[in-house]
Amino acid sequence: MKILHVVGARPNFMKVEPVARALAGLEGLDQILVHTGQHYDPDMSDVFFRELGLPAPDVNLEVGSGTHAVQTALIMMRFEETAGEQKPDLVMVYGDVNSTVASALVCAKLGIPVAHVEAGLRSFDRSMPEEINRLLTDQISDLLFTPSRDGNENLAREGIPQHKVHLVGNVMIDTLVRLLPAADRRWPELRRSLELNGNFGLVTLHRPANVDEPSRLARLMSSLETIADRLPLLFPVHPRTRDRLSIPGLKRANSSLRLMDPVGYLDFLALQKRARVVITDSGGIQEETTFLGVPCLTMRENTERPVTIATGTNTLVGSDPAGLEREVERVLDDGGKSGCVPPLWDGKTGERIAGIIGRLYL
Ligand code: UD1
Ligand code: UDP
Repeated sequence: MKILHVVGARPNFMKVEPVARALAGLEGLDQILVHTGQHYDPDMSDVFFRELGLPAPDVNLEVGSGTHAVQTALIMMRFEETAGEQKPDLVMVYGDVNSTVASALVCAKLGIPVAHVEAGLRSFDRSMPEEINRLLTDQISDLLFTPSRDGNENLAREGIPQHKVHLVGNVMIDTLVRLLPAADRRWPELRRSLELNGNFGLVTLHRPANVDEPSRLARLMSSLETIADRLPLLFPVHPRTRDRLSIPGLKRANSSLRLMDPVGYLDFLALQKRARVVITDSGGIQEETTFLGVPCLTMRENTERPVTIATGTNTLVGSDPAGLEREVERVLDDGGKSGCVPPLWDGKTGERIAGIIGRLYL
């Protein structure tokens, strides 16, 4: 049997590794890794292959950036050729990025079975490109692996036959559990190099709703500066946001709001674990902070990961920067929300997925 994995963007890499690793333990299975090239900067792609120990992709479609239509169409055209050459028995897609939906759609048309890892998540906000990607991918997938029970409920409501759906837990947490000791080992050196001597907060922002509109981004930046007067902030800047900020020479060391290039997985994990608070609009970081027990303030009106609110340490702040300043004050005053780790976020999701694939296909 031949399984082909498709990845393309930063959050895909942490999700494919545990699955590929667990599948490698099954007899009679060949695996092919395809990188669409959606993310291509070394600090958005190569660093994760290196730190996670992923093999170099067998195929790189090198699609690069573009409008949604251009990027999706290019992935489809190039992946159709790859799928035709490779003739996989099953294609595995991850998360909710354009690479996910584009490759799933190619497979649906070619009659190749698709497995979606991280199925069923819904923000119920169709203005988010990711919500469209999630809805469509789930509709055309043959096997749907969900991270939490709400995913199963959403899929049932949308009429997806239950025999296709498997609650397996959160695969991103597998990578976190495996690499946390390595991240801890890097901390002393990282702390020294960043001159971190006390409390700090960690920031990431890249959603179009937050960063694409200049006045909104300017208000957010000004709030972050106000917060940084009380709590120094580290802000590894996503390339989309870097383009919008268009600040020449991003590094502004010595300021209490420090903008920096995106950091590798191990450094980011080490920083998350020790941050007093994380301010973000990322999907994966809402989950990682919940696992780490670190208060997370999410700059969004909604989340497709409600378990991080109900069970974890996540708080939805909405879009008002004044609300963010209030929530940060609250965390500094009372330590912030505490929570627990959702069921099946235990580092063994990859093994559960491999077990199910082995039973169904081998
Ligand atoms: C994509 C995903 C988003 C995910 C995020 C993770 C979609 C629709 N969006 O958003 O769900 O949360 O990745 O990080 O798939 N760029 C570079 N170098 C790179 C990659 C991007 O400079 O290596 C810049 C380009 O200017 C590009 C912009 O970032 O136009 C946006 O990249 P794109 O992949 O289209 O979307 P993201 O915002 O990264
Ligand atoms: N991450 C990282 N370096 C950074 C920012 C994030 O390694 O500078 C990791 C983070 O720990 C998580 C993943 O990237 O594992 C989340 O990706 P991102 O926020 O880009 O995408 P999303 O989850 O929002 O789709």
